Amino acid sequence: MRDGSGYCQAVVSQDGVSAEAFEEASSLTQESSFWVEGNVIKDEKQIGGYEIQVTDMGVYSIALEYPISNKEHGVTFLSNNRHLWLRSRRQWAIMRIRNEIIMGIHDFFQKDGYVQMDAPIFTGSAVEGTTTLFETDFFGQPAYLSQSGQLYGEAMAMAMGKIYTFGPTFRAEKSDTPRHLSEFWMIEPEIAFADLDMNMEVIEAFIKSVVSRIIEKCPEELAILERDVDRLKNVLQPFPRVTHNDAAKILRGELEVNGKNALKVQEEDLKNAHEQLAVVQAEIAEREEKIKTASKGERKFNEGKIIQLRKDVEILTEKTRNIPGWIESARNFSDDEDFGNSDETVLTRVFDAPVMVYNWPAKIKSFYMKEVDGNPDLVKGVDLLAPDGYGEIIGGSERETDINVLLRKIAEHELPLEAFEWYLDLRRFGSVPHAGFGLGLERVVRWVCGLDHMRETIPFPRRYGRLFP
Ligand code: 4AD
Ligand code: MG
Repeated sequence: MRDGSGYCQAVVSQDGVSAEAFEEASSLTQESSFWVEGNVIKDEKQIGGYEIQVTDMGVYSIALEYPISNKEHGVTFLSNNRHLWLRSRRQWAIMRIRNEIIMGIHDFFQKDGYVQMDAPIFTGSAVEGTTTLFETDFFGQPAYLSQSGQLYGEAMAMAMGKIYTFGPTFRAEKSDTPRHLSEFWMIEPEIAFADLDMNMEVIEAFIKSVVSRIIEKCPEELAILERDVDRLKNVLQPFPRVTHNDAAKILRGELEVNGKNALKVQEEDLKNAHEQLAVVQAEIAEREEKIKTASKGERKFNEGKIIQLRKDVEILTEKTRNIPGWIESARNFSDDEDFGNSDETVLTRVFDAPVMVYNWPAKIKSFYMKEVDGNPDLVKGVDLLAPDGYGEIIGGSERETDINVLLRKIAEHELPLEAFEWYLDLRRFGSVPHAGFGLGLERVVRWVCGLDHMRETIPFPRRYGRLFP
């Protein structure tokens, strides 16, 4: 049985309860609900460390045949049944970790004197480019669902010094990938009197604090998810900082990191995947041979093993199919390009800790980022890439304070000047150097939990192709 706080085994024996209670117990189906009274026995071997020997019980509700069973279900089926899937043990663990991450985020900022602010969700202008806006009708006026609270955060930081937003944000990308949601939660600190270096200091301290809190407070949940906690502990190391230009060199194999060449690492991974694939396929063949002459119990055991091995084959085959393309993309990476998904995988593979990439080509970043002194082709942006292929979890920058540069950038990005007049006032009427960043909550949950896909990181995901339940 479970009550949301944990799991416990309850035993009903015929001579331990009334005939009526025994009858009730016999009628229980999966997910039926009931109350029990009984003796609590300490038993280390049992789930939760205790067992209840029932002396009386009664039924609240008998569940119809439950759609989710212990057998394998496809993701589409599970997603269609998200309202029930949330009751599963894995989902229970993920949602508890999500909750603890949220608390860890508030704690980090509150302890350091940041003021939490709520930015509006209906907005009149784009922050992160006009191509990903959800348009709505605001009393006859076009309005957009917020892509980011940053511009409002900048206004508030000029009043409070240090603020952070924590709210829903929306992106209309038609991207059906493991790392894109249409609705996600973003945390955006904004810090007055901060530059790019201070921004990177805060990012590092922040991520270290949140992730070590999960390692400390959620060992049971991480164990359920079979998360490799040693890999997570790598966040305690210093985060390497590389310029975008150096990152490009690392990708192309022109620059090594701790003796590791990114392209060679991929070639090595490819070779290993081919070798493992051969081993797994041989084992499948061997077990199939065994089944032919096996007893019933042995056959069942081997069949179960084969199902698991086939899954490994799928994963390994996909690797052998993907890696050559990744190597090709990395080798041809140009200096003024944004990283694609595979580039982030290839790049982060040579680092153990999260890596900060800074000083980005201006033309692929947002209008508000400050130009690098003496080099207007670069801006003082920073992305934090999580290791082991999880990729970008934070995007931030020092903000442009020169109103003339902002006017030029707004024109270059073809943004409507009128909608940004209030933002430009922040530069006209007493401006200070400032910086900030945005953390995607679900991207962090995915990484910390070690999930293949973001569909499991939020109770009811809204993503391209998914509006129900
Ligand atoms: O890099 P982004 O677009 O930066 C901003 O929005 C800035 N205004 C933040 C700032 O400086 N205040 O988004 C920030 C983060 C990304 O690093 C990523 O973690 C997450 O938001 N994110 C998404 N998460 C899920 N689905 C999507 N479609 C996302 N797009 C961005
Ligand atoms: Mg970004």
